[in-house]
Amino acid sequence: MSNYAVFGHPIAHSLSPRIHALFGEQTGIALRYDAIDSPPAEFRTRLAEFAAAGGRGINVTMPLKQDAFRLSAHVSDFARRVGAVNTMSRREDAGWNGDNTDGAGLIRDLTGRPALDLRSRRSLLLGAGGAARAAAHALLDAGIGELVIVNRTAERAESLVDDIGIPGLVHARYWADLRECGGFDLVVNATSSGVTRESLDLPFNLVTSRALCYDLSYGAAAFGFLAWARAAHAGKALDGLGMLIEQAAESFQLWHGTRPETDPVYEQLRGELPLRATD
Ligand code: ATR
Repeated sequence: MSNYAVFGHPIAHSLSPRIHALFGEQTGIALRYDAIDSPPAEFRTRLAEFAAAGGRGINVTMPLKQDAFRLSAHVSDFARRVGAVNTMSRREDAGWNGDNTDGAGLIRDLTGRPALDLRSRRSLLLGAGGAARAAAHALLDAGIGELVIVNRTAERAESLVDDIGIPGLVHARYWADLRECGGFDLVVNATSSGVTRESLDLPFNLVTSRALCYDLSYGAAAFGFLAWARAAHAGKALDGLGMLIEQAAESFQLWHGTRPETDPVYEQLRGELPLRATD
């Protein structure tokens, strides 16, 4: 039986083992998929041990994605642009191949279940950390219109905009100036504020009536942003559960050569994980 795992710190609440077990059952592929807690300082050693024990592939989550990038012998073009790896595949005698399926997972989720046409959407991205980087590159690859990036620490938004290097299309703005930024058709929360239950100061006039407000996190961490989106009368407010499942499906395909159906897994996990605190 092939051996896979998700590495992170902390990792106890990760849904990835369940998702990959469901994909394995659905496709008839026998696999073992564990959750391995690894502080950053131990990641290199744990990864080598996992490979020595026959490990074929891993997912990587917070806070190890940049370390995974450094530990990959080869990286995909998208992972290189983002500077982070969330999927590693073992190559015989050639070390680890590093990919980043977060971007594809986001786009699949946005254009799949809500069947959104992203082209020309005026979009706002909140945050400029690792998750925001993947989202920005993926949204631009998917053909969104103007992208405005806002971050609590303004310099990080500016440096992300400089890295992307499409000045006509991508701009950084100050958080304090959000009230003057007009309405957006897509608002993506890529900050980690929900994880620590901190609320974001966001004016309602950011949201057009057809807007999709999307939080990259899921479960309770997304409640605050989604409550704001509903109060602002956004056309749709969604958490990142679908993205989590879609990025897992992309990883599954890289490892096993077949893409599982994500809808049944989404339905099952959505039933267990309400979209709002009161559901
Ligand atoms: P991740 O890998 O999840 O992106 P990260 O790289 O640590 O994690 O980035 C966290 C992001 O959430 C950053 O954009 C951070 O803003 P700063 O760059 O100013 O730190 C943002 N963030 C975290 N807590 C926040 C809060 N309470 N309000 C606004 N932004 C917050």
